[in-house]
Amino acid sequence: MGLGVKVSETHVKPEGTLSLQTIAMPADTNWSGDVFGGWIVSQMDLAGAIHAERFSKGRCATISINQMTFLVPVKVGDVISCYTKILKVGNTSIQMQIEVWDSHDSSRDPIRVTEGVYTFVAVDVKGSKRQIPAEAKQLFEASQTKAE
Ligand SMILES: CC(C)(COP(=O)(O)OP(=O)(O)OC[C@H]1O[C@@H](n2cnc3c(N)ncnc32)[C@H](O)[C@@H]1OP(=O)(O)O)[C@@H](O)C(=O)NCCC(=O)NCCS
Repeated sequence: MGLGVKVSETHVKPEGTLSLQTIAMPADTNWSGDVFGGWIVSQMDLAGAIHAERFSKGRCATISINQMTFLVPVKVGDVISCYTKILKVGNTSIQMQIEVWDSHDSSRDPIRVTEGVYTFVAVDVKGSKRQIPAEAKQLFEASQTKAE
């Protein structure tokens, strides 16, 4: 894909901020008892929006969802945790890696079930795009420099 990012295939622990945690319920399943992929995509979208809105200090809209990979099925009763990590900040957009980990069984380490790259655009009250605040951008850039 053309975004120039690759979701990590190697790490064994969640990467990023825990932005949302929930439990898969019977209403979220298909006839075979597996949780719908769309439900998981929706939880990831919420998690990403929470992070993007906190980061950009205002409303954000999802503009794209890329590189979705479903690694392991989710079952009813599974506790899923969505971890979000900002990959890139543009003038109005925020590109984010979102991972879903299943931490249902406390006797074993959490399992990474799904991951994807989402892009959010900061919007104003009318839904028109707005600039990412300069302070937020500077904080992100400083964190990237520190990580290098
Ligand atoms: C979000 C919205 C206001 C953006 O307005 P726009 O005029 O289309 O914006 P632009 O084409 O200038 O793109 C805005 C930013 O998004 C980025 N972008 C645009 N299309 C993109 C795509 N397919 N993937 C990733 N980023 C994208 C642009 O590069 C730009 O980033 P930058 O400002 O950081 O450089 C408008 O597209 C919109 O309202 N979309 C619907 C959003 C929505 O309803 N989402 C929920 C779906 S149910």
